[in-house]
Amino acid sequence: MYNIAIVDEINQKGIDLLDKNNNFNYEVIKDVSKDNLIKKLPSFDGLTLRRGKIDSEILKECPKLKVISRHGVGYDNVDAVYLKENNISLLVTNNSTSTSPAEHIMFMLISIYKGTNIFHDMVKEGNFAKAINKPMDNNFELFNKSILIVGFGRIGKKLIKKCLGFDLKVYVYDPFVDEKIISSMGGNKIGNLEDGLKIADILSLSLPLNKKTYNLISLKEMKIMKKNSIILNISRGGIVNEHDLNNALENNIISYAGLDVFEKEPPDINNPLLNNKKVFLSPHAATFTKECLENMSKETVQNIIDFFDNKIDNSKIVKL
Ligand SMILES: NC(=O)c1ccc[n+]([C@@H]2O[C@H](COP(=O)([O-])OP(=O)(O)OC[C@H]3O[C@@H](n4cnc5c(N)ncnc54)[C@H](O)[C@@H]3O)[C@@H](O)[C@H]2O)c1
Repeated sequence: MYNIAIVDEINQKGIDLLDKNNNFNYEVIKDVSKDNLIKKLPSFDGLTLRRGKIDSEILKECPKLKVISRHGVGYDNVDAVYLKENNISLLVTNNSTSTSPAEHIMFMLISIYKGTNIFHDMVKEGNFAKAINKPMDNNFELFNKSILIVGFGRIGKKLIKKCLGFDLKVYVYDPFVDEKIISSMGGNKIGNLEDGLKIADILSLSLPLNKKTYNLISLKEMKIMKKNSIILNISRGGIVNEHDLNNALENNIISYAGLDVFEKEPPDINNPLLNNKKVFLSPHAATFTKECLENMSKETVQNIIDFFDNKIDNSKIVKL
């Protein structure tokens, strides 16, 4: 019998899998504060992790721990070095976590390009007739615009199909993906980031946060971009320098941003980006669809069951 901690609430469909399986006991831990995790986690053999940070101070109190199953694919909230040194496996939900985020990028792009917020407010505020007099200089067609996708993994590969469906010209910057794969999917590989930034009307980020990608997009990069360009970030806060982004928007260095993620989540209420009219926001919600949340929850739990049954698919194990 294995003891599993469900760290942070997940959709019931995943928990149902444990209810039906006699090999596992489980406990849902809703309070993901460090103090509570240090107190609660030591007796568990495995844990699922949605929100909450699992650092080495917590991990060293967990001598029985053999596996962490992430509800998601990013793992910047776990101490990967400690896991590697202590032979603790890390699993991700690589099947279910890309369709909704790719759709979310298109949702943000279309919302920004079509002035969704402005139109919605105009109608609600009784300004329906005034729309005709408004210069539409910040509303655009997607047709023939250039998008630079930075990070061509699961999300990037789903995104490209949607972009091509809207007649966007797609450029890809991902040093770890072969040119042939990108061109076979209808994209153009870009050898260095700067070249891509120069031609992009839309910059979309779908890459992991790590020491190399922290602040990958700062004022220097924004200054290379076109004045009417937009940045879409559904990957992780921290990849875009928030202070620089606000500065670039205020000084018309770039024109708009769509942000699903922040360096600190939830963001401070006085974070200037929250009140910047050139920012379209969502609350780290790129996976928040009925299908995605159900599937992620089931995959997270199935991964941990498969791990203890010695039949976990290799593609789900992060190579630490
Ligand atoms: N907002 C959300 O709810 C949400 C949901 C899913 C994923 N994400 C984030 O999106 C990221 C991408 O997800 P994925 O499933 O596509 O991951 P993935 O691992 O399949 O793909 C990431 C890609 O980024 C590339 N990459 C790594 N470093 C790079 C760099 N310096 N420059 C350019 N490319 C680089 C890799 O080669 C890889 O192809 C995740 O790491 C996660 O943090 C966010």
